[in-house]
Amino acid sequence: MTDERNNTAGEREQSGIPRHIAIILDGNGRWAKKRGLPRTAGHAAGAETFRRIALYCRDIGVDYLTVYAFSTENWKRPTEEVKTIMRLLDKYLHEAIETMERDGMKMRIFGDVSGLSPELQALAHTADTVADRVEGFQANICLNYGGRDEIVHAARRYATDLASGKAGELTEELFSSYLYSAGIPDPDLLIRPGGEQRLSNFLLWQCAYAEFYFTDVLWPDFTPEELDRAIAVFRSRDRRYGGVK
Ligand code: FPP
Repeated sequence: MTDERNNTAGEREQSGIPRHIAIILDGNGRWAKKRGLPRTAGHAAGAETFRRIALYCRDIGVDYLTVYAFSTENWKRPTEEVKTIMRLLDKYLHEAIETMERDGMKMRIFGDVSGLSPELQALAHTADTVADRVEGFQANICLNYGGRDEIVHAARRYATDLASGKAGELTEELFSSYLYSAGIPDPDLLIRPGGEQRLSNFLLWQCAYAEFYFTDVLWPDFTPEELDRAIAVFRSRDRRYGGVK
């Protein structure tokens, strides 16, 4: 485990800690199957791993962590599995609302919250209100989220603003301000555990220049040491943003 804890943004820059890490939480079902457990047990273990990794990110000086917890396509899963995931999110949101100020760690929901239960919508709203008062590390949970859906929503909102004279000419910067991630820097590092090597409709706009790290480790088994390995690989990459060195 790296010992670069509680450092400043400048120190973080020098140490090569990514400012924003995005993670696709994958492999919960296989983790449970390997142990003869129901898939829902894999999601519960995955949620605990999220808690550990989020705290670790905060401690080593990452500013933003964005995780893909439930996609716009995940509603196709069995009802019991969807219910379990929603219950877990409900529990973690309640907990976050209680602890955000104490822990200096804010949590926000990215996604189409209008498709969630009224209880989860209210929790997402309260979490946002509390997060507005908290300084520091930010964990974003993508819930009922799809990258294309986000872009279409943003385009519709821009078109409405344009028609009513509230928006000017469209630029990349202006368009970004209509996304769920408005105001936060793009991910530097995208991690996908679970062995698959694809983006699965996650942060399509924001990952334009992200470095990708894939690992066969299943999400519930993902440790701070594994995150350190991903960061070490990230540090070895030569980021040119289309230019030359
Ligand atoms: C993908 O693994 C995982 C999900 C669709 C759900 C992730 C949700 C959680 C970890 C619960 C709550 C999250 C937070 C952040 C509190 P999979 O089921 O597709 O795994 P498999 O590919 O092995 O079947």
